[in-house]
Amino acid sequence: MITLLREDELEEFLDFSAAHHEENGRDSIFSPAEGPHERERLRGYFDAAWDVPVSDDGWMKVWIARLPDDSKRIVGHVDLRARSEPSTSHRALLGIGILAPYRGRGLGRALMEEAIRWARTQPLAWIDLATFADNSAALALYRKLGFIETGRVRDLFRVRGTSITDVQMTLHLAL
Ligand SMILES: CC(C)(COP(=O)(O)OP(=O)(O)OC[C@H]1O[C@@H](n2cnc3c(N)ncnc32)[C@H](O)[C@@H]1OP(=O)(O)O)[C@@H](O)C(=O)NCCC(=O)NCCS
Repeated sequence: MITLLREDELEEFLDFSAAHHEENGRDSIFSPAEGPHERERLRGYFDAAWDVPVSDDGWMKVWIARLPDDSKRIVGHVDLRARSEPSTSHRALLGIGILAPYRGRGLGRALMEEAIRWARTQPLAWIDLATFADNSAALALYRKLGFIETGRVRDLFRVRGTSITDVQMTLHLAL
């Protein structure tokens, strides 16, 4: 059950986002974000983005995956958003996360494929993303979908004392 996130689903999505944030560092570190989940800041970010068309600054689209049972719980998401640098409106940035119990079931691939399919209908030429060098699940998923590594920054982050190499990847939508 993959759908584009609607405004009336935001609070439920923020609950999901808080649960996913709690998982960072439990079995592995997958995000540089430290400290408590910033619900208010995120809500503000969404509120500023709902009606922004792609190619304008600050646009963002989020797809959610819900369980197909009665709970219909949100267990995963993928987002595409504008880059912050000027003159980059032909590119999008991608982020993704699945709650731990629901990984390895094809949800990550299905969400990514949905986002890529949508991106190909937009005035976008590239999707960029970054992941940690030891995130083998993410790297495998991105490579399978055609993302190419464009660079690495050694020791970019130090999260809870752990030095982390960041891997940048990109997908050319025209291909
Ligand atoms: C990375 C992540 C999004 C992958 O989602 P997922 O639902 O577990 O992945 P899928 O089940 O769709 O698997 C997609 C592909 O990746 C590969 N893959 C998945 N987990 C893997 C693992 N642990 N090791 C190696 N490859 C793996 C599979 O081979 C699969 O290929 P297939 O579709 O040909 O079978 C998910 O593990 C996750 O949310 N991790 C924590 C947050 C995170 O790392 N986000 C990305 C930060 S950049």
